[in-house]
Amino acid sequence: MAKYKIAWLPGDGVGNDVMEAARIVLDQLKLDADYIHGDIGWEFWCKEGDPLPQRTIDLLKSTDCALFGAITSKPKEEAAKELAPELRNKGLVYNSPIVRMRQEFNLRTNLRPCKAYKGNPLNYKDDLDLVVFRENTEDLYAGVEFHPVPEKLNSVLHELHPKMKKFADTDINDMAISLRIITRKAAQNIIRDAFEHAKRYNYRSVTVVEKPNVIRETSGLMIREARKIAQQYPEIELWETNIDAMCMWLIKNPLDYGVLVTSNMFGDIISDLCAQLVGGLGFACSGNIGDNYAVFEPTHGSAPKYAGQYKVNPIAMLLSCRLMLEWLDELELANRLEIAIASVIQEGKVATYDMGGSSTTLEVAEEVARKL
Ligand code: IPM
Ligand code: MG
Repeated sequence: MAKYKIAWLPGDGVGNDVMEAARIVLDQLKLDADYIHGDIGWEFWCKEGDPLPQRTIDLLKSTDCALFGAITSKPKEEAAKELAPELRNKGLVYNSPIVRMRQEFNLRTNLRPCKAYKGNPLNYKDDLDLVVFRENTEDLYAGVEFHPVPEKLNSVLHELHPKMKKFADTDINDMAISLRIITRKAAQNIIRDAFEHAKRYNYRSVTVVEKPNVIRETSGLMIREARKIAQQYPEIELWETNIDAMCMWLIKNPLDYGVLVTSNMFGDIISDLCAQLVGGLGFACSGNIGDNYAVFEPTHGSAPKYAGQYKVNPIAMLLSCRLMLEWLDELELANRLEIAIASVIQEGKVATYDMGGSSTTLEVAEEVARKL
């Protein structure tokens, strides 16, 4: 029996292309693992009405961690139209499988390193080294939403909050509510993870990115917890920056920053910005990490128009494999993989179109494998 059991979740679109690339590299590294395929993605929504079938959840429960490619997701109405005829009008609602995995397995930390590898022609600035810690289960992603707003909720809100006066004349059918829920426990967890990372890898600061001047309670809670936790790390400075200003500072002075920590929605936004500073989504890797389980994925989408063309950059996926190896405590393999990826980027001879090259997804993976 192999040392690890890894759920293999290509998903759809270019998810398949980049997972094939991952396999080339993991095989070359001789990671002692069994890879077990799981059904997930758009196809299963259309055919079965569920893009993350129960059998796949059961598979995840029986494995050490999962590697995930990409999944197409569409807004509610468009998704409903693509269901098999016999599944239509049954009230099935499309929910993003990655968001569900994060919640069902309490993968509370979304770790998104964004590093400018030397020689990458797409670097915004050389030497950039940012790591985003994004809370991964709460906030607007908790999915507690209403439209129309139930009468009961509407009247309780009017009773409890003077600012509801503004909506006194609005019909409940003409209003939608999405709740931003942040718990102290989740705030503490993500902030502690960020500080621990800063300590382990010698970053001198942690920047908490919120908007407490306007969103006083939820962002306020994040900031207050950050201040408390920061006291336990006297060698690391805590910086507080508003999300809007952060977007500006990251363009103006990105080298000033290291570890960023934030809530789910702001983390979603800021991590795309950080990804673009180091070459775009072709370089954006991530780990969705819980106490006992983790799912690793490139953060790019499924790019359906490129599916099966082996055009997209596999580096985001290969860097996600590196994060997985690190999480499995296969530090030597993780290190070798990063060195190999860095050297392929630096040489620049084998590169996908986004980097100005003409190599395929698999050629890049093979070149990385050769360097191992
Ligand atoms: C990400 C993605 C997802 C998210 C989508 C695909 C639901 O944008 O991982 O950043 O919003 O979290
Ligand atoms: Mg995103």
